Amino acid sequence: MAERMELTRPVFFVGFMGAGKTSVARRLARTCGVASVDMDTYIERREGKKVKEIFAEGGEEGFRAIETDVLRELGAKPDPLLISCGGGVVVTPANHDVFREAGFVVYLEVTADEAASRISDTSTRPLFRARCEERLPLYEAVADVRVSTAGKSVPAIAREVQRILEKEGILCPQQR
Ligand code: S3P
Repeated sequence: MAERMELTRPVFFVGFMGAGKTSVARRLARTCGVASVDMDTYIERREGKKVKEIFAEGGEEGFRAIETDVLRELGAKPDPLLISCGGGVVVTPANHDVFREAGFVVYLEVTADEAASRISDTSTRPLFRARCEERLPLYEAVADVRVSTAGKSVPAIAREVQRILEKEGILCPQQR
């Protein structure tokens, strides 16, 4: 049975593809009884197209514009969410403003090699590896907290994030 907690601010999960953002957010959502949303899935539903197709049709620029729009929308929901972001969310400067103004950013750290080994189909993830290096400082810049994922299971990472969010007063027992 979930604990039924609530969030006081949206929580954004960032990190390389394969860092476990979606799995950790989903796990935490289940154990704490809060809602989570995966940005790429949300974008695909909203646009009625796969991320791959959005890239093919509108280029990276087109995808990034949609991504920023969705980030703003999800960050402004009256009931704050756990939001797993796409790996490239940090390359758009406007997104840093959304993070700073609205939420709390959890950076799930993973090495490029580990990320590669966790990704089954890199063909659906067009920019893999190409930008790993240049993104590192961007993740560090937006992070409110960094959590290393090396050698840890998804439940263990989720518990660690839960403790951090409780300590920060972002995840609280439900008032009602
Ligand atoms: C991207 C990462 C993907 C997705 C898109 C672009 C990137 O998200 O948003 O393919 O630029 O790194 P995941 O990190 O969830 O795979």
